Amino acid sequence: MNAPKSPKTFHVKSYGCQMNVYDGERMAELLGAQGMTASDAATADLVVLNTCHIRERATEKVYSEIGRLKHREEAPAPMIAVAGCVAQAEGEEIARRTKIDVVVGPQAYHNLPELVSQAASGTLALDTDMPAIAKFGALPKRRKVSPSAFLTVQEGCDKFCTYCVVPYTRGAEISRPFATIVDEAKALVDAGAKEITLLGQNVNAWDDENGTGLHGLIVALDKIDGLKRIRYTTSHPNDMREGLIRAHAEVESLMPYLHLPVQAGSDRILKAMNRSHTRDSYLRILERVRAVRPDIALSGDFIVGFPGETDAEFEDTLSLIDEVRYAASFSFKYSPRPGTPAAEMTDGFVPAAVMDERLKRLQAAIARDQAAFNAATLGKTCEVLLERPGKLPGQLIGKSPWLQSVHLMTDAKIGDLVEVEIVRADPNSLAGVETAKAAA
Ligand code: SAH
Ligand code: SF4
Ligand code: F3S
Repeated sequence: MNAPKSPKTFHVKSYGCQMNVYDGERMAELLGAQGMTASDAATADLVVLNTCHIRERATEKVYSEIGRLKHREEAPAPMIAVAGCVAQAEGEEIARRTKIDVVVGPQAYHNLPELVSQAASGTLALDTDMPAIAKFGALPKRRKVSPSAFLTVQEGCDKFCTYCVVPYTRGAEISRPFATIVDEAKALVDAGAKEITLLGQNVNAWDDENGTGLHGLIVALDKIDGLKRIRYTTSHPNDMREGLIRAHAEVESLMPYLHLPVQAGSDRILKAMNRSHTRDSYLRILERVRAVRPDIALSGDFIVGFPGETDAEFEDTLSLIDEVRYAASFSFKYSPRPGTPAAEMTDGFVPAAVMDERLKRLQAAIARDQAAFNAATLGKTCEVLLERPGKLPGQLIGKSPWLQSVHLMTDAKIGDLVEVEIVRADPNSLAGVETAKAAA
């Protein structure tokens, strides 16, 4: 096989969580800063697959994607870089099974340009080191961004839920320094962001040496001129401190939305998952949040079919959903991940048909509550941040404070915040009519 030539065009394709999307944006900026031009997957000289390892199907995708790239029709096979969590967990294994050019882990991608030039000489370039957040200092300044931007403030995870690969692929829990986050937030706002979502696997564990806590960071970001909305995700129940809960009442730019994964409603399963919260302690947190911010939209993550989950334990998850009435949720069938403790739990294996049935029932309950939450916003007036064009001419789509998609016909531009009356509520989205331009 010929040695790949130095690439002039690139394409970054990201899978998985929002943090991975953020990493993909940063890699694209990094390659752009080297003088390379962004292109599409069909023709780019270099394709970066920024992968996710969270469930088995996410990993399988990587192999089929590599196969497709090697046999693409529009251009010869590109230089292939495997980045992200699969690179961290299985990069060397992939390189043994098939020819790829670069393997770069989620904590090492600031070295991507160097690895690409190394690979251009025909050898596999591999970097899966985990230098404690060194990458942020080595990345270029933020330039062009969308109205709603991501900002990673916390990396890694120390929680070691027994089913989860993240502590292994992303390393130990670590907070970025306060000042670098504020700087990046300002650069994002200068580049056109109106909304920033603070990201971390356990974003609410963010802290610094002064004990500022995520709520203190949010209060500081709220003072940035031009930043209209702040969100954060994903939070762990055990790190949901009083200050953060109070911020939902006190900080106007903090949007009324909380994603707080619970995974299951049975205490026995939660313990087997090493979640370190109980059903009751979780429900009490939501009560406190709702007490200070009654309109808050709540969302969760759920896993069905964890090893040993009985019918009655699954019913406990359904009854928790009935009790909470989530505005949105994400739900998954349990997928054994190599190297995690749960993958060794072979007792009480839940058959595929039972998993399917449980997921269907759980998703029906979630859809029912989401439709009810959307219906309750009918007739309300709220601000919508316009983010992208709709299908119809003159139509734009934006987000309500509660993170619902809102469609409207408007003369306003993408990036505007407009005041809208909700005139239609569908199970998955809303339609609105502009009432007046909100103060810019
Ligand atoms: N740090 C976040 C997100 C973790 S990954 C958190 O603690 O919630 C996102 C979701 O994927 C998890 O909340 C969980 O619901 C799901 N997930 C993780 N590992 C999984 C596995 N092995 N099988 C099925 N779902 C899984
Ligand atoms: Fe995974 Fe648990 Fe950490 Fe979330 S808290 S990333 S589910 S180990
Ligand atoms: Fe996937 Fe890694 Fe995110 S495993 S969910 S890309 S942290």
